[in-house]
Amino acid sequence: MDRIVVRGGERLTGEVAISGSKNSSLALMAAALLAEGETRLSNVPRLRDVHAMLELLRALGARAEWVGAHSLVIDGAPVSNPEAPYDLVRKMRASFMVLGPLLARFGTARVSEPGGCAIGVRPIDQHLKGLRALGAKVRLDHGCVEATTAGLSGSRVSFDLNTVNGTQNVMMAAALAPGESVLENAAREPEVLELATVLNRMGAGVRGAGGDRIVITGVESLRGVEHEVSGDRIEAGTLLCAALVTGGDIEITGIDTASLESTLDKLAETGAEIEAQPHRVRARAPGRLRGVQVVTAPFPGYPTDMQAQLMALVATAEGSSVITERVFENRFMHVPELLRMGADISLSGRAAHVRGVPRLAGAQVMATDLRASAGLIVAALASEGDTVVHRVYHIDRGYERIEDKLRGLGAAIHREG
Ligand code: EPU
Repeated sequence: MDRIVVRGGERLTGEVAISGSKNSSLALMAAALLAEGETRLSNVPRLRDVHAMLELLRALGARAEWVGAHSLVIDGAPVSNPEAPYDLVRKMRASFMVLGPLLARFGTARVSEPGGCAIGVRPIDQHLKGLRALGAKVRLDHGCVEATTAGLSGSRVSFDLNTVNGTQNVMMAAALAPGESVLENAAREPEVLELATVLNRMGAGVRGAGGDRIVITGVESLRGVEHEVSGDRIEAGTLLCAALVTGGDIEITGIDTASLESTLDKLAETGAEIEAQPHRVRARAPGRLRGVQVVTAPFPGYPTDMQAQLMALVATAEGSSVITERVFENRFMHVPELLRMGADISLSGRAAHVRGVPRLAGAQVMATDLRASAGLIVAALASEGDTVVHRVYHIDRGYERIEDKLRGLGAAIHREG
């Protein structure tokens, strides 16, 4: 099994281009099922999760293939089997987003229940609540969600909590549901807005995305489109933390800076110097950084997907930090690994108290999920000696060639098979 080996202590400098957003790509790949005709997505990152979604689209009968390094063509017309099997769905929860499009196109769909995952229980009740409101009959049968409808129709859905993929799933179904749908308490993440933008280019009538009330006028059919996926805001934030933890000075490009605001604000609070332009950001650590207080929250709050990386950053900052995780109930699995590297962190409930230490020490550590593993790599870059990160398949789910990108900035990092 692959390992990533990092020799800490190198200062990161230079420029790096951010890849396309994983989470936007996954939603847009599901949305391609709604269209009559081909959808072409460019700037799609080559990641394990994207491969898993491709495999699922093919299992459904869609044509889905790479047509260049980072471009995909997807044609949902040949879909013959609106059934997403457990083997594919369990690999990646985002697979559940095919339910809305399949139901809207075919009036019936069977998608395996995704179950929990390392970061929490992650129920799907809000996805189902929304689809039921649009007129789906949903039943759970031997671990499968079976949804059928004699015809969806527009309706009001008020989400009980903020759910990104839930909002996207219901929005996709509502795009083809005759009448008007209103999604209240909708997620405001940039990936929801990007999906709405693409749906509208396909011919949908979606208004208000990016806010918490989305109004959708259903249409009869949607057409295929071409779209370039936006830069990945979490990869961007991760690379900024990686540079800052080494006292570095880097510039990232290919990112919509507006999507990074809460991350950049928090990094600035640590004492980092941040210069943001609309599509590039320079970040520099002028000296030892300071501890901060942060609470993760839905967009535009501080992202849960950037929690582990910030914790690694402040592990060697001056003073204390309190990092509170409000989105997922079990997203502190990087903490025991950071302790092995010499960090001083204690947990109480949903809060981690981090007392900055002058330096960390390289160790053998285990990646437990995607963002936890990114946090470990950030910590390793600032550690004395070698860190070996095991189970790096987690990191390959969401970062394309992370070791190449970091090496390009001057890190001493390589992969061992
Ligand atoms: N939740 C429910 N019921 C539902 C749906 C969600 O209780 O029906 C709860 C979840 O258990 C969680 C909270 O609501 O506690 C928020 O979950 P959300 O549904 O927003 O998460 P998601 O849509 O499944 C996406 C990203 C995650 C990211 C979260 C939060 C994708 C493919 N995944 O997941 O990304 O952490 O939003 O921003 O878009 C990652 O990239 O590492 C990752 C985990």
